Amino acid sequence: MKCRPNQPSDYALETRGLCKEFLGFRAICDVNLRIRRGDIHALIGPNGAGKTTMFNLLTKFVTRSSGDILLNGADITHTPPASIAERGMVRSFQISAIFPEMTALDNVKIALQKRHGLSRRLFGGAKATRHLDDEAMALLAEVGLAACKDLIAKDLPHGQRRSIEFAATLAMDPHVLLLDEPTQGMGIEDVDLIARLIKKISAKRTIVIVEHNLKVIANISDRVTVLARGAILAEGSYDEVSKNAAVTSAYIGAAHA
Ligand SMILES: Nc1ncnc2c1ncn2[C@@H]1O[C@H](COP(=O)(O)OP(=O)(O)O)[C@@H](O)[C@H]1O
Ligand SMILES: [Mg+2]
Repeated sequence: MKCRPNQPSDYALETRGLCKEFLGFRAICDVNLRIRRGDIHALIGPNGAGKTTMFNLLTKFVTRSSGDILLNGADITHTPPASIAERGMVRSFQISAIFPEMTALDNVKIALQKRHGLSRRLFGGAKATRHLDDEAMALLAEVGLAACKDLIAKDLPHGQRRSIEFAATLAMDPHVLLLDEPTQGMGIEDVDLIARLIKKISAKRTIVIVEHNLKVIANISDRVTVLARGAILAEGSYDEVSKNAAVTSAYIGAAHA
């Protein structure tokens, strides 16, 4: 049997020896993260583990102290934050905050205009943006909102408003999507809706997710990295890491800290 070594491009996203210090405090320490293309990859760990800092480093929101970041095998360590989305990595729900007074369709069209660099023509009237209707409708259909296209965003339930945010994020055409606690503050029904939606949209994309709801992680993730005190504590399937004694004690230790 042929055994092909992993090439850098097998990974949609990779960090090598990534470190971040805040005034001498090591928030992230020598992290080698490897996200396989097409996976839903969860980043979990107790409070203060460094999950948000990792997302901030990946999107260049904060500058790393040392180490490298690779997107599809290309070194993006020194790529400015504004160019990260153009390179296909988008963090939700940061770029895509929705406009509550606008319809679902118009929200997605605005996101499409942003991508096409037409934001100045936003108020050019329906005619000026009609060419975006089909693309916007396809995105709404992908998130299950085709029938809600003319409804005002603020009149929709929480889960569906979040679905609009997903559609607006997908309008940026990301191949790597970073999701920061996508089910935060939701009731069970909305959590299930969003979990199914993430699974659906992952078919064509790589997803990195930070999520406190471990049931969601157990249901949808292909691979899990457990962070603790800024370093990788364990990696594997959810079943594997959840049985890992070091992981259990890190969570229990953090709860009693
Ligand atoms: N801007 C900052 N300045 C100083 N310390 C920070 C800053 N951001 C995060 N930290 C520290 O880094 C550690 C990791 O934080 P964070 O990434 O927010 O953890 P998590 O998201 O896993 O809860 C924490 O100890 C936090 O206090
Ligand atoms: Mg956090």
